[in-house]
Amino acid sequence: MANGSSAAMAAAALAFLAVAAALCCDTAAGALPRLEHHPAKNDGSLSLLVVGDWGRKGTHNQSRVAEQMGRVGEKLDIDFVISTGDNFYDNGLKDVHDHAFEESFTDIYTAQSLQKPWYLVLGNHDYRGNALAQLSPVLRKIDSRFICMRSFIVNAEFVDFFFVDTTPFQRNYWTHPGKHHYDWRGVAPRGKYIANLLEDLDEAMKKSTARWKIVVGHHTMRSVSDHGDTKELLKLLLPVLKENGADFYINGHDHCLEHISSRDSPIQYFTSGGGSKAWRGVFQPNKDKLRFFYDGQGFMSLQLNREQAQFNFYDVSGKVLYQWTSSKTGHPQPSAYLDQEE
Ligand SMILES: *[C@@H]1O[C@H](CO)[C@@H](O)[C@H](O)[C@H]1NC(C)=O
Repeated sequence: MANGSSAAMAAAALAFLAVAAALCCDTAAGALPRLEHHPAKNDGSLSLLVVGDWGRKGTHNQSRVAEQMGRVGEKLDIDFVISTGDNFYDNGLKDVHDHAFEESFTDIYTAQSLQKPWYLVLGNHDYRGNALAQLSPVLRKIDSRFICMRSFIVNAEFVDFFFVDTTPFQRNYWTHPGKHHYDWRGVAPRGKYIANLLEDLDEAMKKSTARWKIVVGHHTMRSVSDHGDTKELLKLLLPVLKENGADFYINGHDHCLEHISSRDSPIQYFTSGGGSKAWRGVFQPNKDKLRFFYDGQGFMSLQLNREQAQFNFYDVSGKVLYQWTSSKTGHPQPSAYLDQEE
């Protein structure tokens, strides 16, 4: 036991070093930052958890979700955690000294199994505060797990995760901010930022030789809950994903758990936005195929190897609500899919 956990800590420390090295050295102009994360397990598989829309100082069942993440994280011996954004409510962090960082993150996700790198994107609520604070490496001095960037790539050998900054896409944040202030430093003007981002993403996805291509963003592409689809993403981002054979798009934003299958491409949409406040009571179907929808709190796990990707959704008591497996057979072609249910 003691041996196992010190080995795990050493592995985690190595992962952090690799990340630190990657963070400091990848400065190629125009390219998305790319981090290498080597799967720790000997069988070459990768396990991770995905949680979104969480930072509420433990309230709204955030702590219960965190506790179950700890248990499942231990059982699956996870390599890392992904956050789909809205990391701190209601208005992101004030600055790098904001105690919400500890109160909503460090002091909540305390389980041993969660002491792994967290790869995070920003949500719209994060942009309502000091967005640069969450991107600051200073936070890693307080809690070294917190690796938040706008758009970046995490390569874990046979899988590439493309993290995309989706908040700037949504036009009404720019045109109708209402009482909110969005921190567009380093982003404005919108058109140029999005054009550059899509070009960089397209280039990175074209270069990718990974078996699986997984895209992560905060906003929904397809959703049957409160926010519904994000039309700017369907128009601007989805074509890049389709063109480059993305397997999955994983998001938060709607405070629920969902799996929706595209009807005109192999893309599967997963919403994991149940990290704290939930139960909106909204259901509005769209034209794609809804496979699973849970309006309450919870999180998702993903276990991957070269042949299979298994998704599980869990509720606040750790119960598995839904499970789905996708297989790739034969040669690594983006079109070689087998769907377990068909
Ligand atoms: C916490 O989770 C339980 C179980 O799902 C639920 O009954 C309760 O309403 C939740 N509390 C909040 C504040 O959402």
